[in-house]
Amino acid sequence: MTIEVRAPASSANLGPGFDCVGISFALYTTVRVKVQDALEIVPIGPDLQDTPRDESNIVYQAMLALSEAAGQQLPPVRLEIESGIPLARGLGSSAAALVAGMVAANELLDRPLDTQSLFDLASRLEGHPDNAGASLVGGAVVATFDGQGAKYLQFQLPENLRALLVVPQYALETSKARGILPDTYSRTDMVFQLSHAALLAAGLASGNLAVFKEAMRDRLHQPYRAALVPGLLELLEGAPEHGALGAALSGAGPSVLCFYEANSDVSALKAFLTGVLEQHGVTALLEELPLDNAGVQVSLHPEN
Ligand code: HSE
Repeated sequence: MTIEVRAPASSANLGPGFDCVGISFALYTTVRVKVQDALEIVPIGPDLQDTPRDESNIVYQAMLALSEAAGQQLPPVRLEIESGIPLARGLGSSAAALVAGMVAANELLDRPLDTQSLFDLASRLEGHPDNAGASLVGGAVVATFDGQGAKYLQFQLPENLRALLVVPQYALETSKARGILPDTYSRTDMVFQLSHAALLAAGLASGNLAVFKEAMRDRLHQPYRAALVPGLLELLEGAPEHGALGAALSGAGPSVLCFYEANSDVSALKAFLTGVLEQHGVTALLEELPLDNAGVQVSLHPEN
């Protein structure tokens, strides 16, 4: 029996929802797990060639964390890992890896953890619930997290919402993008942030796309991270003027997420984005990525 688990990519923050809002994309990390006599970790594909093949592997660590939380012993397994999610681009590759590992171990151990417990564990492993939560349950997630447990609501993403991602060729480590943030903020900035995050959550929950342009403005992280992401502020300011519903740094970056409405013409938006990237000497892919409303998926293959 092989257990196959597919966990989607995600975009955290959507501007003001720092560490508490995420959405998921139809781009996946897939793991296949089968019990055998000794541990064997098999990363597949050129992007994963530097992935550890021993117990330090992040997917395997997530499997161990799950078995520990369940109070059960993990049997030795063959673990195959395949990923279509670019690493260190702000697209939730590490969250997808740990969600896939946790859910595979949960299946292997006959599902000792329910979805809420999986959400809590994923948030603890990742440190915040935005990417991991979206990867686990799909759609849009709004969550609080106290370091142990999360309270969250999941919404299906509006049917007419589409995403265009700017995915630069260079990587940006999350730790570096977090290290650049200040420790304190003014009350004015806090009020700005709260009001925009609240409007963003209301826009996602109601499916009212008209508020996104204003709702995705942020003063907590994007202005500071702009020092690490050439052209960021121009991209964010200009995208809504060229047909985007709104734009935000995707997670800790360096990718940039632009929302647009289904059936709208994105050629002016693409030309604008390409122009700004060229001015800043940044090589990047522009990708129209379908959104994911399903979250992690499990399939069982008894014949293997
Ligand atoms: N909310 C996180 C951040 C996402 O922006 O740093 C990256 O893991």
